[in-house]
Amino acid sequence: MAAQRSSVLLAGLLLLVPVLLGSAFVEELDDTFMETTDPEEIWLIQFYAPWCSFCKQLDPVWHQIGSELRSLGSPVRVGKSDATVNTGLAKEFKIRNYPAILMLKNNVKFNYPGSRTKESIMDFVDRVSGPLVRSLSSTRLFQHAISHHDVLVVYVGATSELKGNLTAAAEELIVHTYFFSASREILPQEVTLTSLPAVLLFKDGTYFIYDEEQDGDLKSWIKRERFPNFFLIDGYTLYAMGESGKLVLLALLEERHLCEENLRYKHLVEKVATEHKDTYGRKFYFGFMEDSGYIDGLIMGEALVPSLMVVNLSNDGYFLPPAPIETELQLLDFLDGVLDGSVEALGGNCFTQRVRRFLYETRMTLMPVFRDAPVLGCFLIGFPLAVGCVFCYLCIKNRPGSADDDEDTPLLAPSMQRKKKLTEKKSD
Ligand SMILES: *[C@@H]1O[C@H](CO)[C@@H](O)[C@H](O)[C@H]1NC(C)=O
Ligand SMILES: *[C@@H]1O[C@H](CO)[C@@H](O)[C@H](O)[C@H]1NC(C)=O
Repeated sequence: MAAQRSSVLLAGLLLLVPVLLGSAFVEELDDTFMETTDPEEIWLIQFYAPWCSFCKQLDPVWHQIGSELRSLGSPVRVGKSDATVNTGLAKEFKIRNYPAILMLKNNVKFNYPGSRTKESIMDFVDRVSGPLVRSLSSTRLFQHAISHHDVLVVYVGATSELKGNLTAAAEELIVHTYFFSASREILPQEVTLTSLPAVLLFKDGTYFIYDEEQDGDLKSWIKRERFPNFFLIDGYTLYAMGESGKLVLLALLEERHLCEENLRYKHLVEKVATEHKDTYGRKFYFGFMEDSGYIDGLIMGEALVPSLMVVNLSNDGYFLPPAPIETELQLLDFLDGVLDGSVEALGGNCFTQRVRRFLYETRMTLMPVFRDAPVLGCFLIGFPLAVGCVFCYLCIKNRPGSADDDEDTPLLAPSMQRKKKLTEKKSD
């Protein structure tokens, strides 16, 4: 009897262990967090909402990150907070969409801009939790850094105003890119520097030296140049590339390269990217995408795959080749046409396009709801509509002469609110 009881107790304890461990890896944060936390601590925090399906998908990843950081002995603590309950904290961090991922270090907040994979988030944690500008003290460390990162920004020289400017740029751009400092001796022999101090950007097997006169402000230069010239691009990265101000020539490919055409397009873009870098590199990035989801949203329809297109992320515009592209020469003609305005710009972010995009995204959000649960779908549409009608009716009825514009947010379904927030972010 006693043995039975103790085995039940043991089983109970064993069940409890993972629960306890789980909660230890990821701490649930509430509105008291800012008062109780030690400013010396570094935090990785996720804000979620109970209805957000992307947040649920992130849960296992979040737990893995928590446990991995713990086992690595990282000083970074991992937390999560329900933004619909802990509204004070969410307001403090200006949370506008879910899941929102950010780090808090020395009372400075760093928003995570990338895809929600463990690798990508861990990389972000590594970047932000370390020094803004890391010192590379040996050739071996330099080689290690360059083999692990597509793009390296390296400061060479003694302390100077330029270094101050680089550190200031790093405060904002550390969420995207690593920053290093090194002495002249540890750089490869083939790097030629005419003067010190200098800022170098290594990418695509070559390097660029910052020149204030030619390149303008240092931070803008890094923003412009911080992507590889040709690479596999995902939706998050493409969105972020808008900040560079460059156009992007994309090969849209099937996820599993099923037909020959895929490779042909990819190689064509890569060839132009490498062989005509001097002509087009200042205006264009080059790459390929294997998931057309982001592009479908941009062009508000289903993108042709495989295909080639140029996107202007500064204004959500895009350009399609007037005729199928077979040769390198035709592709170069297309790029020239985009630059000189002879190829028609489609899309864009003028008012009518924004309205169309909002309607498109609303439709895309609601379609799966209707498919899976038609009654719920009708309710989600019908309820706000009914409230809207009653509201309008009351407005008209009570209007003394001129109606005062009430800035009330309409009562949207949660899924639509999410879309709305995403759209807001896009048009930032
Ligand atoms: C540092 O930045 C300031 C302000 O942007 C600029 O005026 C100055 O020339 C920069 N200094 C160097 C050495 O780049
Ligand atoms: C891309 O968009 C920006 C911002 O609207 C605009 O200034 C630029 O001319 C566009 N580029 C092309 C090639 O249309």
